[in-house]
Amino acid sequence: MNPNHIPVLCDEVCGFFADSSGLIVDATLGLGGHSLALLESNPKIKIIGIDKDREALNLANDRLSHFGDRFSAIHSSFAIGIKKIINENKEISGILADIGISSYQIDNPNRGFSFYSENLDMRMDLDSTIDAKMIVNSYTKEELNRIFMEYGEIKNPNNITKLILDYRRNRPINTAKELSNIIELNTRGKTKIHPATLIFQALRIEVNNELEELERFLDNTENLKNTKIAIISFHSLEDRIVKERFRLWAKNCICNENVMKCECGNNNAKGVNLTKKPIIPSAKEIALNNRSRSAKMRGFRFYE
Ligand SMILES: C[S@@+](CC[C@H](N)C(=O)[O-])C[C@H]1O[C@@H](n2cnc3c(N)ncnc32)[C@H](O)[C@@H]1O
Repeated sequence: MNPNHIPVLCDEVCGFFADSSGLIVDATLGLGGHSLALLESNPKIKIIGIDKDREALNLANDRLSHFGDRFSAIHSSFAIGIKKIINENKEISGILADIGISSYQIDNPNRGFSFYSENLDMRMDLDSTIDAKMIVNSYTKEELNRIFMEYGEIKNPNNITKLILDYRRNRPINTAKELSNIIELNTRGKTKIHPATLIFQALRIEVNNELEELERFLDNTENLKNTKIAIISFHSLEDRIVKERFRLWAKNCICNENVMKCECGNNNAKGVNLTKKPIIPSAKEIALNNRSRSAKMRGFRFYE
C-alpha cells in the first residue's frame, strides 16, 4: 500500500455522511482510503466502490475485504457505473466523488503522470486506447493549442506547442521526462510551479476525458431522491462544473431569463445546496499532506 496515500478532507467526508444509513457509492474508490474511514466510522452503511483503474481497484478490494458484504467494487467509469447502480433500483443514500488522480497513480513511474516518469501514458483506465504519448506525437498544432488553452488554461500556448512540434519532427517524445525537460529547458524566468504543470494537467484531462465524464456523472445522478452527494475536486475547471450544477439543481425557478413573469411554478428545486462556500482543508491538513492544498469539497442533498 502506498504510504503517501492520505485521503483528503477525510474527517469532513465522514462528518458529511455521519447521518447516512444504507448504501453509499464511493465513485472514485482509489486505494479505498475514504471508504475505509467511512465504513469504520458509520456501522449503518454499506459501500459500493467504482474505479476505472483496475490496479487501484484490486488494492482497495484487498484492503477492504474484511468488511465482507458491507463492501463491493466495480470496474467502470463513474458516469456509467452510477447509472448501472441506479438502474438496478438500488436505493442510494450517499455518493462521494474525490475526482482526479490518486497518489498511487502519481507515484507509480510506469503510469506516466509525474514529470520524471520514463513513460508517457496518463491513462487512469489501462483498457483505454488513447494515451498521452499518442496525443503529444500525433495531435495537430490546432488540437494541441485547444487542449492547452481549454484544459491547461494557458492563454497563449503557441510557444509550447511549437517546442513539441519542433522536437517531434526529429524523433517521437517517448517519456514524460522528455516532455517536461523540453518545456523546462525552454522556459525563461522562475515559476512557482513546475513549468510543465499546466501542460501535464491538460494532457491528463484529455486522455481521461475528465470534464465530460464529470458532466455525464452529474447528468446521471440528477434525478436521485433522498441522496446526499459530496464532490471533492482539485482544479478550478472541475470545481466550476460542480458549483454550477449544484446551483442549478437548487433553483426553484427554471424559467428562461427573458420571461417577465415566472411560468414554471417556482418549485423546481431538486434539493438543497449544502455548501454555499466549498469546504477546504485546514492548515493542519495541508501541513500533513501538501497534496490536499487545492482540494475543494461541495455537497448537495436531493429532496425525498
Ligand atoms: C483522488 S483518487 C481517489 C482516492 C480515494 N478517495 C482514496 O481515499 O483512496 C481518484 C480515483 O478516481 C479514479 N477516477 C477518476 N476519474 C474517474 C472516472 N471518471 N471514473 C472512474 N474512476 C475515476 C482514479 O482512477 C483514482 O483512482
